[in-house]
Formats: sequence, C-alpha cells, structure tokens
Amino acid sequence: MAATAALVVDAEYLKEIEKARRDLRALISNKKCAPIMLRLAWHDAGTYDAKTKTGGPNGSIRNKEEYMHAANTGLKIAIDLCDEVKTKHLRVTYADLYQLAGVVAVEVTGGPTIDFTPGRKDSKVSPNEGRLPDAKQGAAHLRDVFYRMGLSDKDIVALSGAHTLGKAHPERSGFDEKPWTKDPYKFDNSYFLELLKGDSDGLLKLPTDKALLDDPNFRTYVELYAKDEDVFFKDYAESHKKLSELGFTPP
Ligand code: HEM
Repeated sequence: MAATAALVVDAEYLKEIEKARRDLRALISNKKCAPIMLRLAWHDAGTYDAKTKTGGPNGSIRNKEEYMHAANTGLKIAIDLCDEVKTKHLRVTYADLYQLAGVVAVEVTGGPTIDFTPGRKDSKVSPNEGRLPDAKQGAAHLRDVFYRMGLSDKDIVALSGAHTLGKAHPERSGFDEKPWTKDPYKFDNSYFLELLKGDSDGLLKLPTDKALLDDPNFRTYVELYAKDEDVFFKDYAESHKKLSELGFTPP
C-alpha cells in the first residue's frame, strides 16, 4: 500500500530537499510569510499523540477536513504557498516540506539554525479536531496538550517563544490584531522580555502566554530566556527539532 511504503531518502531526494530549501528561503523573504509558515509546521506536528502514535508531522493538515478545523483557520494560505514549492520538487513529501518551511522561517528571520532530517511520510488520515492548544486556557491545559505529544515544560516555554514572530488576526482566532513583539518579523528573545514587562499598549498576550508567568516552573525558563538569548536559541532549536520529529524515525 502506498501509505505504508518506505520513503527512499537517496542522494537525489537530498538534492531536492536542498533545492526546496532555497526556494522556501526566497518565497518566505519575498512574501514576508515566515510567521504563517512557522504556524503551519507547528499545527501539522502538534496533533501528535504519543500513546496512539497518531497525528504529528505527516502532512495531513493539507486534507480539507483538517485545515477546516477551527484552530487551523487561515493556514490554507500557507498550504497554498508551500504548493508552489511542491510542484517544483514533486518527490519531496508534504510532511517534509511543511517542516522544512518551519525551519527556514526561523532561519531567515534571524533565529537559530535548526537541524533538519528528511524522510517523513505523508498521511491522508487526519486526527479528530481538538488536539491543538486552546489559547483561552492555562498551565494545566498546556501540560495536558504538550505532555500528550511527549514534550516537556522546557519545550512548552521555549516553543512559545515562537510568538516572537507574527500577530493574531481577528478573523482567524478572534484575538485583536496585535503582535507579541515590536518587530514581528525578527526572531529573537523579545517575546520573553515583553512578557515580563506585563501588559503594554499595542502588544498581545494570550491567556496561555500569561500562564507561563504564573506557573513557577514555566517562569524559571521565561526569566532565563529573557536574560540570555543564546540559551533561548539553543533550547528553541532543540525543542523545535523534537516537535518537527514527533513520531518520526528517519528511514
Ligand atoms: C499565532 C495560539 C504555540 C507559532 C497564534 C495565534 C494563536 C496562537 C491564537 C493567533 C493566530 C491568528 O489569529 O492568526 C497558540 C497557543 C499555543 C501556541 C495557545 C500554546 C502554547 C505556538 C508554537 C508555535 C507557534 C509552539 C511554533 C513553534 C505561532 C506563530 C504565530 C502564532 C508563528 C503567528 C502567525 C501569523 O502571524 O500568521 N498562536 N500558539 N505557536 N503562533 Fe501560536
């Protein structure tokens, strides 16, 4: 069956990955779409359930039933942008392409280099709705969702730092159109600096962002990342790689 056939990562495939990487760099710089590309990668991967080994970075977010989930509103834009690259590199799986787009989005906005291992298989099977976090909830909910994926408190805080990029769109999530930081196209540790400053005019803080301040273990990492950008970049790169490889064993 095609769905279970092993993906062959040969020299030719690796060459296509490198070409797709270059095309993604150009596309993301030209279209200024780093934030939504990073969000696409996260929402494809973040459905992983470690117990049942379902969901995860398998390209299933391209299925209409999944991109129509409320949490994914707006992400069809990023799926269509990735299709421009996919048509030029047909062998590259959607699953690899979306994760590569996330890695490139972080890189071209000045963030850390994230190690990328190709070989993810595509799935036509989408998980049920409701596996991604609800921004209106708190620390216990964040732990429920990220522990289900097999991720840790440190991963939760480091990955939340991705909100250094982008903004909310009222028509997508219902939140006010505000970024988290003053330069939403620059990947740095300003998300944590702004979080510690408290509410400020024009900047967004979701309930789940604020939960990182209230929980003592989360807060330790917030303070560490605000103080030391190098530590944030190192931890972010590790956590992002973990997220991008949930349930994935390289072929
Ligand atoms: C945007 C929630 C974690 C990356 C958003 C938005 C919400 C949200 C409500 C606004 C969407 C819109 O209106 O367009 C959450 C919650 C999280 C979380 C509850 C739980 C911790 C993450 C993680 C990443 C990420 C782990 C990546 C590693 C982004 C990016 C945007 C975004 C880059 C901006 C998108 C854009 O500008 O189009 N998130 N998020 N988020 N999120 Fe998260």
